[in-house]
Order: sequence, then C-alpha cells, then structure tokens
Amino acid sequence: MILSIESSCDDSAIAITEIQTKKLLFHKKISQELDHSVYGGVVPELAARLHAEALPKILEQVQPYFSELKAVAVTATPGLAVTLVEGVTMAKAIAVALGIPLIEVNHLVGHIYSLFIEKEEAFPMTVLLVSGGHTQVMEVKSLREIKTVAKSMDDSFGESFDKVAKMMGLGYPGGPLIQELAKDGDRLKYNFTVPLHQSPLIAFSYSGLKNAVRLAVLEAGDDRSLYKDIAASFEHIATKHLIMKLKKYFKTNPPKRFAIVGGASANLYLREQIELLLAPHKAELFLSELKYCADNAAMIGRVGVEMYKAGIFVSVESLDITPKSEL
Ligand code: KG4
Ligand code: ZN
Repeated sequence: MILSIESSCDDSAIAITEIQTKKLLFHKKISQELDHSVYGGVVPELAARLHAEALPKILEQVQPYFSELKAVAVTATPGLAVTLVEGVTMAKAIAVALGIPLIEVNHLVGHIYSLFIEKEEAFPMTVLLVSGGHTQVMEVKSLREIKTVAKSMDDSFGESFDKVAKMMGLGYPGGPLIQELAKDGDRLKYNFTVPLHQSPLIAFSYSGLKNAVRLAVLEAGDDRSLYKDIAASFEHIATKHLIMKLKKYFKTNPPKRFAIVGGASANLYLREQIELLLAPHKAELFLSELKYCADNAAMIGRVGVEMYKAGIFVSVESLDITPKSEL
C-alpha cells in the first residue's frame, strides 16, 4: 500500500492506495474553503496553519495501515511554499519512522491521474488542465512523457472565476458560485471580447476578460440583479476562449482521446461545450469523477503507484519543495 499526502493549496488530504489493484482503501480531505472565503482567496499563512492541524488528525485515522505501507507519496511541486512544506515534512517523518521509500509527486501529474483512480491508465491522451493555478493543454504519452502544447500567459481559467466572484463579493472558491449564479443569467447580455480571438497563438489569457468584467460590475453599481447576466456572459466567453483555441489546435492535432482535469473541469457549461467540440472528431472524452476534480490525495496516490512500480524514489535528504515548476 501507498500512503499519499496532498497539501499544495487549501486542501489537506491523505489517501491509502493498494499497489496491485489500485484500489483506494482510504481517502479523507479537509477543505479550508470556508476559512478563506471571507478573504476572497487563499491566505497562505492561514492555509499552512490549518494544514498543521488537519494533516495529523487525518494521519491518526490511517494508523491501522502503517504496517503494510510500502512507500509514502507526497506533492512537492507546484503549489504554495508554506503549505507544500507541511505535507513534505510529514511525508519525510513517516518515511524515516517506518523505513520506507519516499515518492515525490508533481501536483499537475496528479490531476492527470485523477482520471485513473481505481482504473488503468489510457494513453496517449490530449489533456486540458483547468485549475486555480493552471490552464494548459498537454499531450500525454506516459507518466514521464508529458508535453505542454499551450498554456496561459497570465491568469488561469479557475482563477478568473475566483476573481470575478470576489468582485461580486460572493466568496471563495468562485467557480461553483459563478456557475450557480450564471444558471439563470443571459449568456449573451454582455458582449465581452473573446481573449486572443484575432491572434494566431495557441495560448490562453484571462486578465483582459477579468478587467472587462470588473468594468461591468462597477457599472452595475448597486443593481445586483445584473450579476447573474454578468456571470453568465463571463462564463460563456471564458469557455468560448478555450473552445476556440482547442478548435484551432485540433486542426493539426486531431484528438483520439481527450480529457479535462483540475478543479474547474467540474464546470458543467465547459463540459457541455467540450462535448460539442469533440463530436465531429469522434474522440473519446475522459473526465474525473466530480469528487476527484478538485485537489485530493487519491490522485497523488494513483501517481505514487506508477512511480513505485517504476522504482522512482527520492531520498529524505534531497526531497525539497519547488513552489514553481512547469510540465
Ligand atoms: O484543482 P483545484 O482544486 O486547485 C488547484 O490546483 O488550483 O482547482 C481549484 C479551482 C478554483 O479556482 C475554483 O474556483 C475552480 O477550480 N472551480 C471551478 C468550478 N469548481 C471549481 N471553476 C469553474 N467552474 C466550476 N464549477
Ligand atoms: Zn490542483
């Protein structure tokens, strides 16, 4: 069995995964969303303090598995420095105490493997990662062959939802809040410009759209009844941008298998639009279960299984956090 730890942002999570069967024997996550909600975003120092409380609480519950553990897998990159270090320190202590190897997991690879929790891998695959920290398209051939072919030049898709929600004073995380508000709104009411629509670049950008929404919110003033239309129009254009760039990319790289992963892959409008985009290509669409779209330790454990089988370990002395890294 593998014990896995995730603490790269505001979720403290631990999982136990069976190596042979990939079965998830235990998974518990304590989210800090409510604690950060009043600030409209994650406050790193608060997140670190909450991880220091939550992780040992969850660890207590997995003590019965200790004698059967073969390795500890932990997210070491990318993420918030002060929160990554909480998980990594705990992983090192467990590895030393039990005399088992350590596995260093990249959080983004974790999101890709959220597709394969309790399942076999299915590669090659084109993967769109949309999270709070990332918006990127990757061609994935295997655990170690991952090539990023398009990424955001500024804000990420999920982050833009968080920022729009903050402008409207809705709380954090913004994705589900904006999605809910947009349900009853008019998607065509605000004619926001689709980012980079005239650019031949296959890349993403959300800062311009964010600023256009800021102006619309300011203009709405006290009339909060307009927020649902702003939310709907924003969600529509944010998604249209992804779809337009993917369409361009597919012209030369038609997908056979396509997946959306990351916290924002839970977005229902995005899922619907991606299905329409894929239809003419007859590509198979892969999605994570809703409960594994956002950060969790089950996906880290699933990567851990593959790395364990490939014998990819890291020593306690050399494992360090890397807050910024790219795939
Ligand atoms: O993957 P994740 O849990 O954390 C990171 O690795 O960043 O993603 C969190 C992000 C947040 O920005 C959140 O607002 C966004 O995913 N999100 C959504 C939805 N649910 C979560 N964005 C749009 N629509 C949603 N339904
Ligand atoms: Zn994530």
